[in-house]
Amino acid sequence: MHVYINDFGQHVGEEVQVKGWLYNKRSKGKIHFLQIRDGTGIVQGVMRLGTVPDEAFEAAKRMGQESSIIVTGEVKEDARAPSGFELGVTALEVMQEVHEYPIALQEHGPDFLLSHRHLWLRSKKQAAIMRIRNRVSMAIRQFFDDRGFTLLDTPMFTPAACEGTTTLFEVDYFEDAKAYLTQSGQLYAEAGALALGKVYTFGPVFRAEKSKTRRHLTEFWMIEPEVAYADLDDIMDLAEAFICHIVQDVLAKNRSDLEDLERDISKLEAIKAPFPRISFDEAHELLLELGVQHAAGDDFGAPDETALGDHFGMPVMIHRWPKEIKSFYMKRDPENENYVLGVDVIGPEGSGELIGGSQREEDLDLLLSRIRAEGLPEEAFEWYIDLRRFGSVPHSGFGLGLERTLGWICGREHIRECIPFPRMLHRIYP
Ligand code: 4AD
Ligand code: MG
Repeated sequence: MHVYINDFGQHVGEEVQVKGWLYNKRSKGKIHFLQIRDGTGIVQGVMRLGTVPDEAFEAAKRMGQESSIIVTGEVKEDARAPSGFELGVTALEVMQEVHEYPIALQEHGPDFLLSHRHLWLRSKKQAAIMRIRNRVSMAIRQFFDDRGFTLLDTPMFTPAACEGTTTLFEVDYFEDAKAYLTQSGQLYAEAGALALGKVYTFGPVFRAEKSKTRRHLTEFWMIEPEVAYADLDDIMDLAEAFICHIVQDVLAKNRSDLEDLERDISKLEAIKAPFPRISFDEAHELLLELGVQHAAGDDFGAPDETALGDHFGMPVMIHRWPKEIKSFYMKRDPENENYVLGVDVIGPEGSGELIGGSQREEDLDLLLSRIRAEGLPEEAFEWYIDLRRFGSVPHSGFGLGLERTLGWICGREHIRECIPFPRMLHRIYP
């Protein structure tokens, strides 16, 4: 009977079939130790000369890493094994004997691995990240569904920029027309919130970022809740509960994946509400106290974010930003017109900005003046401006970067490992 490795617990003492691939092999005269992987886990199969047909023993001697194999054997409990089980092999069928698999288990450079991403995904850590990515996606959908949000799928082709014009990918859209790949579903989510009350988007977004940092992709996934009648504080509460829920769910269900990644789990266990909330000006003061140079009014760079995240060891919410460094749609702070009601959530351990969000400008005239001041094409935004003409209400939302969040949870230096096939400056293969 075919059994997946992660179901071995229900089959102790039974003879089962594992359908998978050879991950690694060690041989000692009359015995082969086969590390077998099947996508759900890795188990050691012990094959002894005499307990399997001679041809099977010889085939096992020849086969190299990533040979595809069907292995029959008895499931045995083994406290010393990382999986908790061992397979006493009785038969082996080799589907394809492989030699010279390009990715050996020892270290390769990042360029080589990225060029072999289609194979690199088979290695233990990469598979663990993909399982955690799946978990986080499920946790996100669950979180919003439990709170009565409606998932709203927003378009990828758009007529205008949401997050400024410098990072747009332009595409030919039939005769004469230009379209842009979306940088964010937010503007459409706002229309959705005024129709449905509480919505969220979950999809890929595109940014022609020329930056080659460890936190930037040109295609990444964003989750953007948008809530009618919510203010900045409401949305900060939501962001806090959201991050806690994601971390808790991974801790509860993907512990062995975190262990495979050698993640310091105690750092994730420490993540609990409330998160510190400080204004942009307070964050500036704090940086100076920490001995980090930061010019008043400047956006935070990676070193600033890392210093703030390290200082708190917890996601920190920074609110009320100078309007010059934030987007046109953010609501003017009623207490200081040079500021807007935006919030960034900076993650700990150098993970950088996980969330950007704000209360939106609901006043028609103020929004129009921001659109004009930034020289944005008013015609393309007509539909969006309509939202301020017909039943405008206070509303707020934010966007969480999926790969940034995974980079933090999985403890990866570079977020390119957190998406199956990363797209970056100078890389679009495989
Ligand atoms: O701060 P951003 O640009 O916010 C928006 O796009 C808003 N429209 C969201 C909203 O209010 N609905 O991007 C949101 C998040 C960032 O905090 C970061 O986590 C991620 O998206 N992000 C990137 N992730 C990977 N590669 C990039 N180039 C990214 N740019 C932003
Ligand atoms: Mg941002």
